[in-house]
Amino acid sequence: RTDLIITEIDSAQNQFINRVPRDLDAIVIGSGVGGLGIAVLLAKVGKKVLVLEQHDRAGGCCHTFSEKGFEFDVGIHYIGDLVENKPQRCISDQLTNGQLQWDCKNRYAQELKKCFPGEEKAIDDFIRLTKVRGVWLMPVLKIILSPIAKFLVYSGLISRLSYFFCYGSRSLAEVVNSLTQNEDLRAVFCYIFGTYGNIPKEASFSMHSLLLCHYMPGAWYPKGGASEIAFHMIPIIEKAGGAVLVRAPVNRILLNDSKEAIGVSVMKGHEEVHVHAPIVISDAGVFNTYQQLLPKEVQAMPAIQKQLSFVKHGEGGLSVFLGLDGTKEELGLEAKNYWVFPENNLDALMEGYRKEEREEAVKSVPLIFIALPSAKDPTWEQRKPVKSTLSLVSFAPYSWFEEWKDDKVKNRGADYKELKETLLNSLLEMVYQVFPKIKDRIKYMDAGTPVTNQHYIAAPKGEIYGADQGTARFSAEFCVSIRPQTPIKNLYLTGQDLFSCGYAGALAGAMVCGSVILKRNLYVDVLALCMKLKYGSKKAQ
Ligand SMILES: Cc1cc2nc3c(=O)[nH]c(=O)nc-3n(C[C@H](O)[C@H](O)[C@H](O)COP(=O)(O)OP(=O)(O)OC[C@H]3O[C@@H](n4cnc5c(N)ncnc54)[C@H](O)[C@@H]3O)c2cc1C
Ligand SMILES: *[C@@H]1O[C@H](CO)[C@@H](O)[C@H](O)[C@H]1NC(C)=O
Repeated sequence: RTDLIITEIDSAQNQFINRVPRDLDAIVIGSGVGGLGIAVLLAKVGKKVLVLEQHDRAGGCCHTFSEKGFEFDVGIHYIGDLVENKPQRCISDQLTNGQLQWDCKNRYAQELKKCFPGEEKAIDDFIRLTKVRGVWLMPVLKIILSPIAKFLVYSGLISRLSYFFCYGSRSLAEVVNSLTQNEDLRAVFCYIFGTYGNIPKEASFSMHSLLLCHYMPGAWYPKGGASEIAFHMIPIIEKAGGAVLVRAPVNRILLNDSKEAIGVSVMKGHEEVHVHAPIVISDAGVFNTYQQLLPKEVQAMPAIQKQLSFVKHGEGGLSVFLGLDGTKEELGLEAKNYWVFPENNLDALMEGYRKEEREEAVKSVPLIFIALPSAKDPTWEQRKPVKSTLSLVSFAPYSWFEEWKDDKVKNRGADYKELKETLLNSLLEMVYQVFPKIKDRIKYMDAGTPVTNQHYIAAPKGEIYGADQGTARFSAEFCVSIRPQTPIKNLYLTGQDLFSCGYAGALAGAMVCGSVILKRNLYVDVLALCMKLKYGSKKAQ
């Protein structure tokens, strides 16, 4: 028996080793869009890149999973700003070789003034303030030479140049409250905070503006669901001789005697397998990278401690997945997203919730986001006739669930199950108010908590959107402190913690990281490409 187990482990290691390409140019830890994105950028200039993912499938927050014949996205409900021939779209198309198709729904309409007569000025002022000017300085500060970036920041020049950084440290509540006394309008200006996770009094007005501008031109959804993203990125990496390997948890970054990154160690069975490359890039987030993957004495380096002092763990996430029997027409589901909250004082609502005992709190979750993924995907009906899905997202402190962090997934005992059931029941009551027709049509339901995020996307404290994105995150000081190059030579960061959360934010992380590694501002290339496409398409007309 022991022999048998040993041979099995041996073969798992050998299988893994056999799939690792030789003479790698870089290793990427984590296969979220930030990780796949940088791997594709490097593959496009002929580099051989190995992407290692701890989960059993690639994509990170953009992976999908199936249960009882239903398919669910984890973390893509809508993406903004994918207007053709605009930079965001060009980046996305380049990284998927134009294979990924998008569907745009429900353009953000200027309906506010109709709903709030007499508040025209407040609405105009709000829209004007959210037109983010100077956001381009954020990638620039992370790409240019560190001494120059630091000079710009510490001389105060940057705040004069950039309205983005001026408002970065002001809270959303402060700005919104100065515009109007109308509590309902205040709530309407603010509720989209759920897309980055900081309540209005802790949110950065610049982050909020970034998100609003992002969704202003409309909202897009990948045809075929979120897994299409990784599906179209992986072949580009493979074509250049690289590979994306799943079930490959990196347990530490290998350093040599001069404390330079030279590769990673992967746990296979109970054994470590070492893989070497001249560059190591981490998409695993700042906390995992510094606190889990580096040796203690390296972690203690002042430069690393300084970076860690800038970041906080973000809010924990709750997700609920509902599989329904029926078509979207039968169930009254449309390609829309809903934000549901019972009162207009969002700060008080969320703070009250956080302070409650968890058993009570889960009985009345104050803010839920409802998405209808199957209704958004034009390919769904062909793929899954007579089925529909509904996803909910909300927040919950990690501390409520921490006691179960070491238990096996799907087997966390009766108390955990009960807590989840209470949560599900109370959320369902809210959902039925919006979609009465789904009652009795639910064929599958489950809830994910912060410890679920910990397991599947390796979020260290169950974070929904990685490191906290409050006011501190959008100061110029933060921006120049967390850059792609880490204090460890040859170790780089990519993904949402480097830039901001979201599909676009994680890709921006990859773009900034690629610019530094390739010593070339890739945004300049993107702008040139946009011009070419625009000019080209005009000529074609
Ligand atoms: C519920 C939810 C809803 C969301 N909704 C939207 C939305 O509608 N629109 C939008 O734009 N964004 C949305 N987001 C955010 C967006 O999905 C993320 O910001 C983005 O995908 C993050 O990409 P990333 O590459 O930075 O990180 P991740 O996707 O978190 O990828 C990191 C990867 O690293 C892996 N990893 C970590 N440690 C290791 C290790 N030691 N070894 C190997 N692998 C490791 C993890 O398993 C993970 O796969 C949502 C997120 C969630 C969770
Ligand atoms: C560490 O690795 C770097 C990069 O490969 C190399 O230049 C350096 O000489 C190495 N240092 C030692 C002590 O091996």
